[in-house]
Amino acid sequence: MSKEYLKSVFLTGFMGAGKSTAGQLTADLLNIPFFDLDERIVQREKRSIASIFAEDGEEYFRNCETDLLGELKDEPAAVYATGGGIVAREVNREAMASLGKIVYLSASWPTLQERLRSSVDRPLVAQEKNWDELKTLWGERQTFYSEADIIVSVDGLTPMEIAQNIHDGLIIKE
Ligand code: S3P
Repeated sequence: MSKEYLKSVFLTGFMGAGKSTAGQLTADLLNIPFFDLDERIVQREKRSIASIFAEDGEEYFRNCETDLLGELKDEPAAVYATGGGIVAREVNREAMASLGKIVYLSASWPTLQERLRSSVDRPLVAQEKNWDELKTLWGERQTFYSEADIIVSVDGLTPMEIAQNIHDGLIIKE
């Protein structure tokens, strides 16, 4: 049995960066549990993220994210996949930094665009796909994403290669 990583790990990055897939594999390598924060919000709210946005608005969803992060200090170390917008609030960045390491999964715009083309359930990626707006949002978030402890480029890599790179980056920085 390999030893458990002792800090939590927050995978950040734009929608379509592959946080959930790489997150589960990273958690397996670090021998700690994996959670998807969006999934936790969906379970708690008993409705989809699209429904939360439609019924109560984005601000309400953002408050759910902040509340949830505030509760994690009582939980054992885990790998968390975060929603792409979690980095926009300073209080969220501080909460993640205080609990462990922040890893930015960096993907090029063409890669993200390709992956988001088939996305139907993300409220910010509307049916008609306003690529200019999405690219602007991606650009606006770069400063926040780049504040991460570790940056892993995901273009052209398999989920397992990404997880291995995250793992190696974390162990080197230990
Ligand atoms: C969002 C990303 C989504 C989800 C919500 C808002 C964002 O998560 O939290 O739709 O603002 O970028 P993923 O990054 O997992 O798609």
